[in-house]
Amino acid sequence: YPGAEEYLPDTRDVPALAAAARTCRGCDLYKAAGRTVFGAGPESARILLVGEQPGDQEDRAGEPFVGPAGYLLDKALEQAGIDRESVYTTNAVKHFRFDRSANGRRRIHKRPSGGQIAACRPWLLAELEAIRPEVVVCLGASAAQALLGTGFKLTEHRGEVLRLPDEFRENGDPAVVVTIHPSAVLRARSGRDDALRSLVGDLRRAAASTR
Ligand code: URA
Ligand code: SF4
Repeated sequence: YPGAEEYLPDTRDVPALAAAARTCRGCDLYKAAGRTVFGAGPESARILLVGEQPGDQEDRAGEPFVGPAGYLLDKALEQAGIDRESVYTTNAVKHFRFDRSANGRRRIHKRPSGGQIAACRPWLLAELEAIRPEVVVCLGASAAQALLGTGFKLTEHRGEVLRLPDEFRENGDPAVVVTIHPSAVLRARSGRDDALRSLVGDLRRAAASTR
């Protein structure tokens, strides 16, 4: 993939970035998806949350984390004592990747490839520059892969307070906390309470590293 780099504007304010991202053709995902779902939240946010990619409902609404995963995330943030309105939320990949169900009616989430995550990363790095958060929370493996590399093992390092690799630290040096994705909590079924508790614990730890 050519990547998003050539679509980036010179400025680093979120509305300008979001407008430019609507024209992005840095990988093939813009073709089948509906809208570009850029990050959202105040530019003064001290916490920046990174998900994987928009889901079906986010693709329709044009906003991150408004579907079932967003509902779970809202609940986890509330339990962690973090004001949802004070955080900036975004995704590693800005377009929805999906397969069609057999009857063609439903769009089923498909994990973005490493190449797509890398292609879309310039937008995420530009958001880091624009927001300059004190802490970045990677929700799940795709977000961790975007910022910490393909060799990063979520299960070994979840909840630890980490730093970005040197190459991404030029425009700020936020703490980084990696945790499970809210969708993983939804999928946990019998272990859902435990999964939610650990997500909440990691969000608390992330918030504590802003003080
Ligand atoms: N899952 C994500 O990772 N991001 C969203 O915006 C919605 C669901
Ligand atoms: Fe551009 Fe990212 Fe969309 Fe690919 S997924 S077209 S890189 S905005």
